[in-house]
Amino acid sequence: MAWITKNSGATQIPRRPEPYLTTAMKERLSRDIVPRYEVKQGALLPVLHDLQHAYGWIPYQALEEAAAFLGLQPADVWDTASFYEEFWLQPRATSGTPPRGEHVIAVCRSIACEVCDHSAITSAVREKLGIDVGETTDDGRFTLVELECLGLCEGAPAALVDEEMVMCATPESIGKAIDALAAGNHSHH
Ligand code: FES
Repeated sequence: MAWITKNSGATQIPRRPEPYLTTAMKERLSRDIVPRYEVKQGALLPVLHDLQHAYGWIPYQALEEAAAFLGLQPADVWDTASFYEEFWLQPRATSGTPPRGEHVIAVCRSIACEVCDHSAITSAVREKLGIDVGETTDDGRFTLVELECLGLCEGAPAALVDEEMVMCATPESIGKAIDALAAGNHSHH
C-alpha cells in the first residue's frame, strides 16, 4: 500500500522559500549522476532518493523542483514517486495516530524473500509492536509495511529499518534492530 496524499484541485500546496533540491544537491547530481544516463529522465529515481534521504520524505514542492531540474512535467514526477512504495509523499507525523511513524520497518514480500519465509519476519514485528502491516503504533514511533523487492534478494529475507538494511533477517535480528531504534540511538530528521 502506498501512502499517498490525495492531490485534489482544492488542496493548498505548502511552500517554503528555500528550495528542497539545494544548489549543492543539484551540483552533485549534475556531476555524478545525470551523466550516467542517456536521457535526464533516467536520473529521476536517484534524485528522488536524494530528496527522501535529505528530508525523510518528499514534499510536493520538492517534486516540482525535481521536475524543473530534469526538464520533466511535475505530474510525471508525481506519477513515478507515487508508484514506488518506498517514497513517502507525506511527512512523518509527531503525535496522534499518524499515517507514518517516526521509524519505518519495511519487510520485503517479493518472491526471493517470500520463499525465505518473510512472513516470519513480518509476524515477529507485528507481535513485537502490536500493529498490523500498514499500521502505526499509538505513540507514533513505528510503522510496519511490506514492500516489493528491495533489491537485496541475495540477503533474503530482507528488510529495511529506516534506511538500514537487515539482510538474512531473523525474528531475533529484526527485533534487535527495533530495540536499537526504541533505545533512541538511531535518530532521524
Ligand atoms: S525479493 Fe526481497 S529483496 Fe528482492
